[in-house]
Amino acid sequence: MSILETIKSRRTIKNFKTDPVSSEQLISWLEAAAMAPNHRMTEPWEIYVIGQETRAKLNHKTNFGNAPVLMAILSKHGATSIETEENALATACFVQNFNLAAWEEGVGTFWSSIAATAKNREILGVPEEYDVIGVFGVGYPEEIHEPKPRTPINNKVKELP
Ligand SMILES: Cc1cc2nc3c(=O)[nH]c(=O)nc-3n(C[C@H](O)[C@H](O)[C@H](O)COP(=O)(O)O)c2cc1C
Repeated sequence: MSILETIKSRRTIKNFKTDPVSSEQLISWLEAAAMAPNHRMTEPWEIYVIGQETRAKLNHKTNFGNAPVLMAILSKHGATSIETEENALATACFVQNFNLAAWEEGVGTFWSSIAATAKNREILGVPEEYDVIGVFGVGYPEEIHEPKPRTPINNKVKELP
């Protein structure tokens, strides 16, 4: 797939096959993800690979679409609020790099905001100085939904004098 095909065909996956994803595959996509832009090379991301015991405690209503792999991606705070914000932006770039690297090899992700609550942060053992960017189910799609229509991009473009 070309990069454009990968970007345009990617979908959030809500229902996964049971086929496993190996730790080698995971590491190769995480390595690609880590090439994300990040101001002052803070490399603010951290990855928690979530085991069955912790996953059961998270008690997600769909069990993350039965994804074979579940991980949380965290972003470390900076010394200032601007650095913290930039770190979160860099980690979002990291996430999308991961999404696209995996998608190119037929593997999809389910981005969940489940760790936005204090209770789930505690279950994951997230230290205070980290944001949780998301909890991600990763696996081979059981089904791929149609693209969700986007607003024509011209409606979002403003030309400045
Ligand atoms: C920051 C962020 C948080 C998200 N949280 C959730 C979530 O909690 N539950 C969910 O079903 N989808 C979540 N999503 C996925 C979006 O719902 C999804 O990207 C959107 O519907 C567009 O679909 P697509 O990714 O297939 O194009 C999240 C996406 C982002 C970027």
